[in-house]
Amino acid sequence: MLALASDHAGFPLKEEIKAYLDEKGVEYIDCGAESTASVDYAQYAQKACLKVTCGEADKAILCCGTGIGISMAANKVKGIRAACCSDYFSAKFTRLHNDANVLCMGARVIGAGLACELVDVFINTEFEGGRHQRRVDQIHAIENGEIL
Ligand code: RB5
Repeated sequence: MLALASDHAGFPLKEEIKAYLDEKGVEYIDCGAESTASVDYAQYAQKACLKVTCGEADKAILCCGTGIGISMAANKVKGIRAACCSDYFSAKFTRLHNDANVLCMGARVIGAGLACELVDVFINTEFEGGRHQRRVDQIHAIENGEIL
């Protein structure tokens, strides 16, 4: 299960991604926004990320204009590792090496065709573990106020 969210700028891309997921038979929860009327991305990032941290969704896909604001907000949610990607290599390796659980994209940066490819590789690539697990654990140690 995926959680999807966007602000107004990311809304058109979120809708394209929904159509792609429908075609592929991938289930998702749409956490809004519902239109291109202006809203604030942090609220929508939080809604989708909480679906991930409570276990209702495995991963989240977030869209805003740049992908950056919504990724910054997402990364403030405890347990979230959000990556803002606009290329295939990053979307793949953030799964392999960072065990990213949230993919963020900019609707004003990339087109829907590439975005759907990034979603595809992101949801179908497994974390490699091993030495990368230690590094991911360190990210969460920082989150918990530990000094590395
Ligand atoms: C909205 O205009 C825009 O600022 C937002 O979608 C995003 O790009 C912020 O990072």
